[in-house]
Amino acid sequence: MDKFVIRGGKKLRGAVEVSGAKNASLALMPATLLAPGQYAFQRTPMLRDVTTMSRLLETMGLKITRTDHTLRIDSSEVTSFEAPYEHVKKMRASIYVLGPLLGRFGQADVSLPGGCAWGPRPVNLHLEGLRKLGAHIELEGGIIRARAKRLRGARIVFDVSSVGATGNVMMAAVLAQGTTVIDNAAMEPEIAALGEFLVRMGAKIEGVGTNHLEIEGVDALHPADCVTIPDRIEAGTLLVAAALSGDREGSVRVEKCNPGHLSALTTKLEDVGAQLTIGKDFIEIVPPETIRPVNVTTSIYSGFPTDMQAQWIALMSLSKGTSVITETIYSDRFMHVPELVRLGADITVNDNIATVVGVEKLTGAKVMSTDLRASASLILAGLVAEGTTEVLRVYHLDRGYEQIEKKLSQLGADIERASGEEF
Ligand code: UD1
Repeated sequence: MDKFVIRGGKKLRGAVEVSGAKNASLALMPATLLAPGQYAFQRTPMLRDVTTMSRLLETMGLKITRTDHTLRIDSSEVTSFEAPYEHVKKMRASIYVLGPLLGRFGQADVSLPGGCAWGPRPVNLHLEGLRKLGAHIELEGGIIRARAKRLRGARIVFDVSSVGATGNVMMAAVLAQGTTVIDNAAMEPEIAALGEFLVRMGAKIEGVGTNHLEIEGVDALHPADCVTIPDRIEAGTLLVAAALSGDREGSVRVEKCNPGHLSALTTKLEDVGAQLTIGKDFIEIVPPETIRPVNVTTSIYSGFPTDMQAQWIALMSLSKGTSVITETIYSDRFMHVPELVRLGADITVNDNIATVVGVEKLTGAKVMSTDLRASASLILAGLVAEGTTEVLRVYHLDRGYEQIEKKLSQLGADIERASGEEF
């Protein structure tokens, strides 16, 4: 298993480009099950999760090739309606095949995703939504067995705004008979991107990007091409890296991002004391002289994303004061905290609230990646820590950050990938 070796203290400056959004690609790729034919997705990030989704779709008969960042999918033949556990266990987003398979073929057998590093992650909203559309769903031997003749439009009000459930139900409803209304729909940009793509495929959806979707089912869809939106979490992670380790004599320019998707974060970075220049597709940041403590509460879009919480805690670890970070999406998503404490951070967690007392410095140590964003926070801390930090089990990072070490090195960080020891 690879590890990252980081010699901390290097000042970051320069420009770096953001890749396409992982969470958009993972929703777009299964949408090709909805209509047979050839698709080209430009700006697909080269990530382990994208490979996992490709392998899963290949087991269903799809043909997938990649040239640089263009992913081509041929969905002319779909030969299986099953998502086996070996794929689903690697990545919860595998459940995205459920809606399109059911919508087009009336049949899907998808292994039930398990929990993950930070606790249970239910799929009840996906199943309730699909049941409302008339699907007959049973759980049998750890498998979701869903059947339907043709789905029928219905009114669905999600108790909780869910990215995955909105995507799944939307993909099922576009081929249903009649009109589906989804209230409390997720408004995350990746779901808006999926909605726009489905519209280009011929779907009739009103309200894309809002929490109220009206979908009029059509009899058939057709292939469409797509340029994947920029990854707002990767962009955010690079901005926090610059806020922590940037060079005040220079700046870090995060390019090819969508600043409109990042406003909850950029406002908080300004509160911290960073100077930001926000362009149409770039954000330039000069780090603060001293990091002011700033509280955040995670929430659904357009609030502060839970996928940036771990990185924010890393930043607050070096603030001049005490900050409170409240996690409202996944109440126990704090696996990074004990590892940051190993680097010298002063953080206590009570229920879903982390209190961070800023320290003078962090000191390098061996730390363990536990999940994707937790790993990102350890890298950020390692960049600024005194001495050498080894972040073990970087396969978590490879799931969601394209060549993070290359991008950070390009900015002047001293970070390298090495083969790590087993744990
Ligand atoms: C997606 C993102 C993930 C991000 C999360 C929240 C992808 C591939 N992943 O995950 O990076 O952290 O959104 O922004 O896009 N819930 C239920 N029942 C369900 C589904 C969800 O109770 O059936 C709850 C969850 O426990 C959580 C909340 O709803 O508290 C939001 O989760 P959801 O938006 O569904 O997350 P994912 O789609 O899994």
